[in-house]
Amino acid sequence: MRDDLARIMEGFEAECREVRDEPAYGLLRERYLSREKGLLTLQLKRLRDLPPAERPAFGQEVNRLKAAIETRLDELAGQVRLAAYQDRLEKERLDVTLPGFPVARGTLHPVKQVEAEICGIFQRMGYAIAEGPEIETDFFNFGALNFPPDHPARDAQDTFFIGDGSFLLRTHTSPVQIRTMQAVAPPLKVIAPGKVYRKDTPDATHFPIFHQIEGLVVDEGVSLADLKGTLEHFARECFAADARIRLRPSFFPFVEPGAEVDVSCFFCGGRGCRICKGSGWIEILGAGMVHPNVFDACGIDSERYTGFAFGMGIDRVAILRYGVPDIRMFWENDVRFLNQFHRF
Ligand code: FA5
Repeated sequence: MRDDLARIMEGFEAECREVRDEPAYGLLRERYLSREKGLLTLQLKRLRDLPPAERPAFGQEVNRLKAAIETRLDELAGQVRLAAYQDRLEKERLDVTLPGFPVARGTLHPVKQVEAEICGIFQRMGYAIAEGPEIETDFFNFGALNFPPDHPARDAQDTFFIGDGSFLLRTHTSPVQIRTMQAVAPPLKVIAPGKVYRKDTPDATHFPIFHQIEGLVVDEGVSLADLKGTLEHFARECFAADARIRLRPSFFPFVEPGAEVDVSCFFCGGRGCRICKGSGWIEILGAGMVHPNVFDACGIDSERYTGFAFGMGIDRVAILRYGVPDIRMFWENDVRFLNQFHRF
């Protein structure tokens, strides 16, 4: 019977050498150590056939063999696992030096880039960003802004009305002034960028959907000089370090006095060129001191507070900044054109 045990060990060693993977290992372990039918269990069952005196010695032999087999199997388990791991590494081998597939990266639309840049300039001056809806009522877009009932801008020729005419697509960002003043008490310092809509026929400088950015400052003692200083700083940050501005009297119902603001031409330095049509100046925005009627519509004491407001066309600034000849190119969605503005 001792010989049997020696043969079992030999057979076991031989079988170990054949094991290459985890399933084979599992079968081998089962074959020798299974509680019911394992070869060692069978040997222990043979104890019954032995004379009682021989039983303890044989039992010890079997247990020694079992311990040896267990030790060897544990060792083998490690080897098999390592082999499986190496096998997997081999199969999943990656050549990291191969060229990758190019990933087409999107970019902010050039008009949005300019919008972000303008917002940044004002945010660094302490302005907060304000927002309002693109679908507005007559009150916010016109009435509270002191437009008289017969003002031409209220005409269906210029404004997109919705349904029965109770709603409209805002024609400028100025309604955000009203919404802000109704919601927050002065002092106020906000800019409001966004989309606006007008029934304009598209041409090189007009599009029916375009972008504006509105500025509004309300506090005690705000003056026209503050407006001028603010816009001059803006022009120097946005256009050229030595840019100058000039204010020409103009009319908007919601400001008094009102002005059109020009910046010295940053293509020719003010000498006169094709871009500024020889004048040395480029018009960039409308501005003025908030009209007392507007304060009244918002419940703000116009005896105590003054303020300034301005509004500019972002698409027009983008045209100037990038030297784009036609506003329509921004909205044709030709990626060969848009890809030239990869910056953010
Ligand atoms: C206004 O819309 C006033 N709300 C601006 C303002 C705000 C004045 C605060 C005073 C105080 P205006 O209609 O001029 O003003 O338009 C402002 C700018 O929008 C223009 O200077 C121009 O740059 C741009 N703009 C107007 N129409 C179009 C269009 N169809 N396509 C692209 N840009 C346009």
